[in-house]
Amino acid sequence: MNAAPLGVFDSGIGGLTVARALFERLPRESVIYFGDTARVPYGPKSPDTVRRYSGEILAFLLKRGVKAVVVACNTSTAHALGALQRQSPVPVVGVIEPGARAAVAATRTGNIGVIGTAGTVASGAYERAIKALRADACVHSQPCPLFVPLVEEAWFEHPAAELIAREYLEPLKRARVDVLVLGCTHYPLLKPLLSRVMGPDVQLVDSAEETATAVARELERLDLLANGGGGSNNHRFVVSDDEPHFRKVGALFLGEKLKQVEVVPL
Ligand code: DGL
Repeated sequence: MNAAPLGVFDSGIGGLTVARALFERLPRESVIYFGDTARVPYGPKSPDTVRRYSGEILAFLLKRGVKAVVVACNTSTAHALGALQRQSPVPVVGVIEPGARAAVAATRTGNIGVIGTAGTVASGAYERAIKALRADACVHSQPCPLFVPLVEEAWFEHPAAELIAREYLEPLKRARVDVLVLGCTHYPLLKPLLSRVMGPDVQLVDSAEETATAVARELERLDLLANGGGGSNNHRFVVSDDEPHFRKVGALFLGEKLKQVEVVPL
């Protein structure tokens, strides 16, 4: 079981930020990544639809013999994590609890900002996770749906991106948050811009890095860590559609070229 791959999934390309963090934190693990590029985006879809899609991906990854599953997508985590954990014979880790934990550790004032897709924000999942750790925290959430297409266009520093970021983040600046949780797979790529807009006193929390640490801890606790060689050669990338776009834009997310990408329509 220790040599089995780790399953990671997302609605599309964005979860590669989580895969990248996992590669860095757990270089011996092999990862099988599934991006649901045929049905992205999940952000504006109903909780029921996101739960159904996520369940189908879990079934696919289990068939491929994964030892644990990482839900890299914030929207899937928000709507489906509980259902997936109940369904799955292997551990399932989401991105929200680790992000919330890091935010609570980082805040001085208890005034925390959260940005994410419309679905993630409407679910209230980050707010619940943060309040479970610090009941007196004041959580200010803001959906930022236009960030996903901007990042997919690689407009990380484009004036249009800056204009939109200033508009979205204004209420959070006014609320004087001292921590901003990047509650969406795509947002880590906008870090320099978001940091500039929020100012130097606001700390950005990247759920991808926190999740990789949580996964490492969980694998260790369950004695599931890979003990032998491994490395990037064993990683597999699977998408449900549009493999050329995934390969091209995915390289930006991953920070390295994507060699082989398999297409499996669910
Ligand atoms: N992966 C999604 C998330 O982290 C963003 C893209 C989408 O809307 O599907 O919420």
